[in-house]
Amino acid sequence: MDKRLKDIQEAADFLRVRMRGAVPEVGIILGSGLGKLGESIEAEGVIPYREIPNFARSTAIGHKGNFIFGRLAGRFVCAMQGRFHYYEGYPMEKVTLPVRVMALLGVKFLFVSNAAGGLNPAFQPGDLMIIRDHINLMPNPLIGPNFETFGERFPDMTAPYDAELIAKAEAIAAAEGIALRKGVYLGNTGPSYETPAEVRFYFGIGADAVGMSTVPEVLVARHCGLRVFGMSVITNKSNFETASTVLNDGDDVVRAADAAADRMCLLFQKLIETI
Ligand code: HPA
Repeated sequence: MDKRLKDIQEAADFLRVRMRGAVPEVGIILGSGLGKLGESIEAEGVIPYREIPNFARSTAIGHKGNFIFGRLAGRFVCAMQGRFHYYEGYPMEKVTLPVRVMALLGVKFLFVSNAAGGLNPAFQPGDLMIIRDHINLMPNPLIGPNFETFGERFPDMTAPYDAELIAKAEAIAAAEGIALRKGVYLGNTGPSYETPAEVRFYFGIGADAVGMSTVPEVLVARHCGLRVFGMSVITNKSNFETASTVLNDGDDVVRAADAAADRMCLLFQKLIETI
């Protein structure tokens, strides 16, 4: 058997036993400072990544490193409290392994969240942005022999983010009085933040927010047919000009994400209720 598939199946088999056969409908990936949503889940299991076969470790700040399953908004869900990043040194296969594991467990929807820098000058720290599209500036995780078990060689990316989920999220936000932005997320490898010239370039090519994650997971999720909803928490404004002081700081990012987490949690919960 393909070693890649064996690794994914081993992790899925381990989790399936721990879930006692329950099938999660929704998989959730919680980014920097956004692990709070995990606390709203009526957890039936909280498993540190180190116990799960073939899972990487979460080394990024603001990432707890737990796989949680239980009920949220009346649905059986599973959630990653912290993700794996390419900049941590993991190959894309490791970064995206949990998405395929979730697919094998039976998940039909993937909700992804991240902390991101605001390229769009109208965006302020603390804003929530629905990801309506993305630009990939990382290695594509689908490079290599195609995983026929999961999907086709050339997956369509005309609509990676589910239009129906976006419309529902907008309706919920309007009803709850939650202000929302909507925009394009650009994924670059990090771990360095962007130079002012890169910021101008990224905004110029149509991105509204920039980060170091999410895109690989979404590509793999779409490859295996999951419906995706993505949300960025804008944690800082990107610098269009060279500044004399350092303006980007990882701890500030986690603090800003934490402050916005409650609104994002409410939105995710209400949205999950509707599916
Ligand atoms: N750039 C890249 N990633 C980020 C940023 C940023 O400004 N803020 C939070 N994640």
